[in-house]
This record gives sequence, C-alpha cells and structure tokens, in this order.
Amino acid sequence: MKLKTKIIAGLVFAIIIIQFFRIDKTNPNTDPSNDLLAMHEASIEVSEILKNACYDCHSNKTEYPWYSNVAPVSWWLKDHVDHARGHLNFSDWGTYDLKKKKHKLEEVYEEVEEGEMPLDSYTWVHEEAELTAEQRELLIAWAKKTRSEL
Ligand code: HEC
Repeated sequence: MKLKTKIIAGLVFAIIIIQFFRIDKTNPNTDPSNDLLAMHEASIEVSEILKNACYDCHSNKTEYPWYSNVAPVSWWLKDHVDHARGHLNFSDWGTYDLKKKKHKLEEVYEEVEEGEMPLDSYTWVHEEAELTAEQRELLIAWAKKTRSEL
C-alpha cells in the first residue's frame, strides 16, 4: 500500500472506532416545580426565547440533534451541555438559594447584553435561537424585573 492510502485507511478506521464511544443522552430527572419558568412568571415571548435559545444547554430538557450521534461532534456537544448545566441549570432553579438566584439572573442579563449568550456555535445551527435586538431587550428586562422581585 502506498503511504497516502495507508493514511486514509487509518483515518477511516479511526473515525469508525470513535463512533463506539457514545455520549449519554439521558436527561437527569428533576422535579418540574423547580423549573425557572414554573417558579417565575414570564410572558409567552420570554418563555419561548428561553426555551428556544437557552434550554438545550442550561436545563435538563436538552433535545439532542441528529448529529449528536456522530463522534467527535457528539463529545463536543455533550461537553457544552455539561459545562452549561454546571454553571446554570434552569431545571434546578428551585434548589438555588436567594443569593445564587440573584447572582445568576444578573449573569443572564449581562451575558445577553454582551451578546455572549446564546453561544454563536449554537445559533449557527439553530436559527430559532438567533435573537433579535427586540428579543434581547425583552429577555434582559424580564431578568432584571424578576431579580428585583426576589
Ligand atoms: C450551546 C450551549 C449554550 C446555549 C444555547 C446557551 N448557553 Fe449559556 N453557557 C454555555 C456554557 C458552555 C457556559 C459556561 C461558560 C463558558 O464556558 O462560556 C454558559 C454560561 C452561561 C452563563 C454564565 C453562568 C455563570 O454563572 O457563570 C449564563 C448567565 C448563561 N450562560 C446564560 C445563557 C442564556 C440566558 C442563554 C439563552 C439566551 C444561554 N446561556 C444559551 C452554553 C450555552
């Protein structure tokens, strides 16, 4: 075999082998009454923004796309979800104490104001998560109001 053929065969083999290392896509069980949107009032628009643009990463209601079956993209996705939940999990909202809730809501409007969230890599493939200026304003105003009422 020529070197080039060997390299290609090696790569194909590696790509096949890594497919056996699948990610765990079971969403953790949580008490629905602890969910952010169950605990705080939000307009339909704000709920939709949060569900469409944040909940796939920041909740236990992740909906995995088809390409989450393909390694190494799957590992990268899972890493994002684990990381995001670790920082902020809207499904566990009720378990946060007052100080943490206030701090996280402040982070929410800061991240959204700065355009850091939702992550660009997410909006590239999820058009519905691409927020308009108006949607950002709505979400920011809601987070500020909710924080002030805590
Ligand atoms: C594709 C996954 C993904 C989406 C979608 C996403 N985030 Fe994040 N978010 C992350 C990750 C990962 C982090 C961890 C920090 C980092 O590495 O940048 C994070 C961090 C945060 C933080 C900081 C929390 C802290 O205490 O440090 C806030 C607040 C936040 N996100 C809010 C949002 C909001 C609001 C939305 C929706 C508008 C959103 N995120 C959408 C992945 C995501």
